[in-house]
Amino acid sequence: MLPFNKPYFVGTETRYIEEAVRSGKISGDGLFTRRCEAWFAQHLGSARALLTTSCTDALELAALLLDIQPGDEVLLPSFTFSSTANAFVLRGARLVFVDCAPDSPALDAAALAALVTPRTRAIVPVHYAGTACDMGAVLAVSARHGLAVVEDAAQAISSTYQGRLLGSLGALGAFSFHETKNITAGGEGGLLAINDPALVARAEILREKGTNRAAFFRGEVDKYSWVDVGSSFLPADINAAYLWGQLEALDFIQARRCAIWQRYHAALQPLAEIGVELPAQPDYASNNGHLYYFVCRSLAERTSLLAYLKARDIAAIFHYQPLHRSPYYATRHDGRPLPRADRYADCLVRLPLYVELDEEEQLRIVRAVLTFYRCR
Ligand SMILES: Cc1ncc(COP(=O)(O)O)c(C=O)c1O
Repeated sequence: MLPFNKPYFVGTETRYIEEAVRSGKISGDGLFTRRCEAWFAQHLGSARALLTTSCTDALELAALLLDIQPGDEVLLPSFTFSSTANAFVLRGARLVFVDCAPDSPALDAAALAALVTPRTRAIVPVHYAGTACDMGAVLAVSARHGLAVVEDAAQAISSTYQGRLLGSLGALGAFSFHETKNITAGGEGGLLAINDPALVARAEILREKGTNRAAFFRGEVDKYSWVDVGSSFLPADINAAYLWGQLEALDFIQARRCAIWQRYHAALQPLAEIGVELPAQPDYASNNGHLYYFVCRSLAERTSLLAYLKARDIAAIFHYQPLHRSPYYATRHDGRPLPRADRYADCLVRLPLYVELDEEEQLRIVRAVLTFYRCR
């Protein structure tokens, strides 16, 4: 079976893990945590970058940091992972789901303004497939109404909006280093980019179980105390050591993934002619080769395509079920139909994409898809 995903192992990760172990400091905030955080802060131009145990945790830290209160409203896409929503629901927020854009699974930025009320506190755009949302429109609405923007950049490492790196545009940006992402922190991991300098001091406290331990270690206070709410979001340095090995190989990984993505896109163009939607690449967005998807013409067509590929040992898969129809939130949703989110949930297919997918294997996948559609 050609797997859907295969985490790429650079080879240096275990050496760095051994280095961390031998240093005698394997809990969080060790040498590799600091290295990774400095790399991201510099790369993104963020005031501070904090490693977390997952993107889920980075989003939860973001919701705490913004002091989201019961009854506050948060605008976010329905076509996303539960973590984007959970972080805010845990603080008592009411979710106001935004439909997908007319031509992509990204949130429809043109729909945002009409959904803002006096209770709206934040917008959480998700850069689906690592492709930027229309951040110009998102930031314009946020500026007009004084709303915080938390970018869910789980899939978006190295991608840009008009040349600016995703995760650096909102007040906060959350990344994932789960094994399914372009780079991983040894299975699980995440990062919160803090772009608003006013949020840095409190972010360090919330991440350190509500204590001012970070300031203590910098010699800024003479003892550390419990000064705020907080939790434990800090990963072990072992995970950061793994991530450092991956970060050093980031350019190679991205180049490989983008080449595979481009080959899919070129080879599958005949599908566009028969009404199958291929991924949109807006002028303002760059591509990070995170995932290759296309959109079947119906749920029935997708079901038979997935079965057809599975019978040929190809693990293609669908993606999110829309959160406005989820068992947990359907009865809490305000009832607005979100037909584009429904369509992407029912019809989107993701093809295998990983660094070690070779050209012959990819050709086999492409041929199978084109044969299914009788395009060859
Ligand atoms: C859009 C989005 N946000 C958040 C997450 C959660 O990431 P993690 O598994 O690192 O918690 C995912 C997971 O795939 C995701 O797709």
